[in-house]
Amino acid sequence: MGLFGLRFYCLVCIGLVLSSGVCYGGDPFANFDLEFAYVTASPLGVPQQVIAVNGKFPGPVLNVTTNYNVVVNVRNQLDESLLVTWPGIEMRRSSWQDGVLGTNCPIPAKWNWTYQFQVKDQIGSYYYVPSINFQRAAGGFGGFVITNRKIISLPFNTPDGDIVITIGDWYTRSHKDLRDALDDGKELGMPDGVLINGKGPFQYNSSVPDGIEHATLNVDPGKTYRVRVVNVGVSTCLNFRIQNHNLLLAEAEGHYTSQQNYTSLDIHVGQSYSFLVTMDQNASSDYYVVASARFVNQSEWQRVTGVAVLHYSNSKGKASGPLPDPPSDGNDNSYAVNQAMSIRMNNSASGARPNPQGSFRYGSINVTDVYTLRNIPPTTIDGKLRATYNGISFVNPNTPVRLADNYKLKGSYKLDFPSKPLNRPPTMDRSLINATYKAFVEIVLENNDTVVQSFHMDGYSFFVVGMAYGEWTENSRGSYNRWDAIARSTTQVFPGGWTAILVYLDNVGAWNLRTVNLDRWYLGQETYMRIVNPEDDGQKTEQPPPDNVFFCGDLAHFQKPQRSAAALSIQELTKLNFKLLLTLAAVVYMVI
Ligand SMILES: *[C@@H]1O[C@H](CO)[C@@H](O)[C@H](O)[C@H]1NC(C)=O
Ligand SMILES: *[C@@H]1O[C@H](CO)[C@@H](O)[C@H](O)[C@H]1NC(C)=O
Ligand SMILES: *[C@@H]1O[C@H](CO)[C@@H](O)[C@H](O)[C@H]1NC(C)=O
Ligand SMILES: *[C@@H]1O[C@H](CO)[C@@H](O)[C@H](O)[C@H]1NC(C)=O
Ligand SMILES: *[C@@H]1O[C@H](CO)[C@@H](O)[C@H](O)[C@H]1NC(C)=O
Ligand SMILES: *[C@@H]1O[C@H](CO)[C@@H](O)[C@H](O)[C@H]1NC(C)=O
Ligand SMILES: *[C@@H]1O[C@H](CO)[C@@H](O)[C@H](O)[C@H]1NC(C)=O
Ligand SMILES: *[C@@H]1O[C@H](CO)[C@@H](O)[C@H](O)[C@H]1NC(C)=O
Ligand SMILES: *[C@@H]1O[C@H](CO)[C@@H](O)[C@H](O)[C@H]1NC(C)=O
Ligand SMILES: *[C@@H]1O[C@H](CO)[C@@H](O)[C@H](O)[C@H]1NC(C)=O
Repeated sequence: MGLFGLRFYCLVCIGLVLSSGVCYGGDPFANFDLEFAYVTASPLGVPQQVIAVNGKFPGPVLNVTTNYNVVVNVRNQLDESLLVTWPGIEMRRSSWQDGVLGTNCPIPAKWNWTYQFQVKDQIGSYYYVPSINFQRAAGGFGGFVITNRKIISLPFNTPDGDIVITIGDWYTRSHKDLRDALDDGKELGMPDGVLINGKGPFQYNSSVPDGIEHATLNVDPGKTYRVRVVNVGVSTCLNFRIQNHNLLLAEAEGHYTSQQNYTSLDIHVGQSYSFLVTMDQNASSDYYVVASARFVNQSEWQRVTGVAVLHYSNSKGKASGPLPDPPSDGNDNSYAVNQAMSIRMNNSASGARPNPQGSFRYGSINVTDVYTLRNIPPTTIDGKLRATYNGISFVNPNTPVRLADNYKLKGSYKLDFPSKPLNRPPTMDRSLINATYKAFVEIVLENNDTVVQSFHMDGYSFFVVGMAYGEWTENSRGSYNRWDAIARSTTQVFPGGWTAILVYLDNVGAWNLRTVNLDRWYLGQETYMRIVNPEDDGQKTEQPPPDNVFFCGDLAHFQKPQRSAAALSIQELTKLNFKLLLTLAAVVYMVI
């Protein structure tokens, strides 16, 4: 429940109806106030500046229920602009709330901006994270949970507890140093560690220095917990495992999976999962919780291993001995692909709505458009190190795409993104995909880089129908899973391999397609799909810009100055309450 609780939701709802006309069918409101500010922390034993949310690193978990209207006032107390994005939250018909540069003007330092969106028909495990200025490498992230409505049953017994875990690679250099390095054409190199819930490794052996604080998960014997794990790191795929415990996979990014036990699972950057973990061991000691780097040289990367502790309330001692082994797949790269494709949808389970997840028979729908997105290792363009899809390194328009459209601004972006790689030198450009509303599209992701990558699409879940090493050909379609492919919003693409996804473009707006690997994203490996209903030019199908929309770029002259978000005056607060009282009085009057 929000910081202000739900007690006032009726009041807020009435206020909103009258003041902006936006209120969604009486669904409850959840209000959050999030202050993003620097604090000093030493997760790896070295003091450094991290981005805390409401004083916490990682930030607080936001916990709402399907269909809630979520109101989040983001206060930017950093010394630079900020945008917060919500990967996997579909923001239906309202890319205004997506929090990336193609949809939102950044929130200037010391200003605030209030996001408002409905988590329509969504359940599951998500997160929030800064999307600009490389800030994710410094924190500013936290879990975002959407619980099912009481009337929709879970496809498993109600767990005894709910635990959110963030994992991620971590540098002791500041996010500004890291982005300066990239600006100077340098790669980031190996991270300094892996954090679990913002904490460094438990001292499992003498290779871990003294004085590092580790995370502890407290549990009771015999109970079953829903453990939600999100990889919020910069660019490292992490293998997640809990010593002696089965991970029963139950959910991937908002969709219930066919439940299966894993001893460990690879979690790529930006991905999230729920596991049901039963505390069925004898607690002769605590157990290790491990997140270790994958698809890298194991002997060099051993020192960057995240280790937390699973502590039973009846535990008889500390965890000791070697860590549980990572997968021993050596040079057998089929292991990881097979594991990824073993994650399948439970077609008979209800998702956020009572109808089963499998009722959208994606496998029998004809594809109307095909896009291939191919990336290569970072390359020099106009003297700068840049990363690309189809030879285009994306440059953000000065004015967000749909805002420019609303104000009939011409020329702030181009709709010429190539639908497949072209044989021409790479360029930097403001090229978007001119996608067709309600098209059923196939996107083939081809990774010609040397590192494994995560691909994410905002505004949608897509079906991950195929994945393999080697070249994609038309024959590859024969291998697609057309029955129970998992729907999710972030998928891995192996180096020298491809991943194929299917997605139904029924959500209007401008939606970011990106690599989640932060270094590559920062260097321009992204674009947008502009999806507009041609019948109304987006005027009716899409929500209008919110009342509090920020203006920037070619529309900056419309932006009124804002006073410090920290110092919202009493006068202003009174005005706010007065407005609410007035609307309430009006309602009471109307009722009488
Ligand atoms: C900033 O926060 C105040 C409440 O403290 C809110 O009324 C205002 O709408 C917010 N500003 C924007 C631009 O969202
Ligand atoms: C799929 O969901 C159904 C319906 O909730 C549930 O009974 C069943 O156990 C689930 N099957 C698997 C394999 O997860
Ligand atoms: C979220 O709230 C529900 C109750 O609405 C609770 O059962 C669950 O444990 C909470 N989860 C987290 C991660 O806080
Ligand atoms: C510490 O553990 C790592 C990984 O399990 C192992 O490779 C290393 O040899 C150990 N170091 C010492 C000093 O025991
Ligand atoms: C998962 O493993 C547990 C034992 O820890 C077992 O009881 C359960 O049946 C397994 N579930 C599946 C779906 O294999
Ligand atoms: C507890 O389990 C461990 C590992 O399964 C086993 O080695 C140990 O003997 C057990 N201890 C007790 C007291 O049963
Ligand atoms: C992994 O790193 C070790 C230590 O730097 C090095 O000796 C070894 O050759 C590397 N292995 C591969 C496959 O690159
Ligand atoms: C899909 O295309 C095939 C052949 O092009 C056609 O026969 C079939 O009717 C189409 N199916 C649907 C559902 O439109
Ligand atoms: C975008 O696509 C639509 C058809 O879906 C087409 O009518 C329009 O001309 C295209 N716009 C550009 C700039 O290519
Ligand atoms: C990248 O593409 C080139 C040319 O097609 C090919 O020779 C090379 O093997 C590819 N590398 C990877 C990692 O995919």
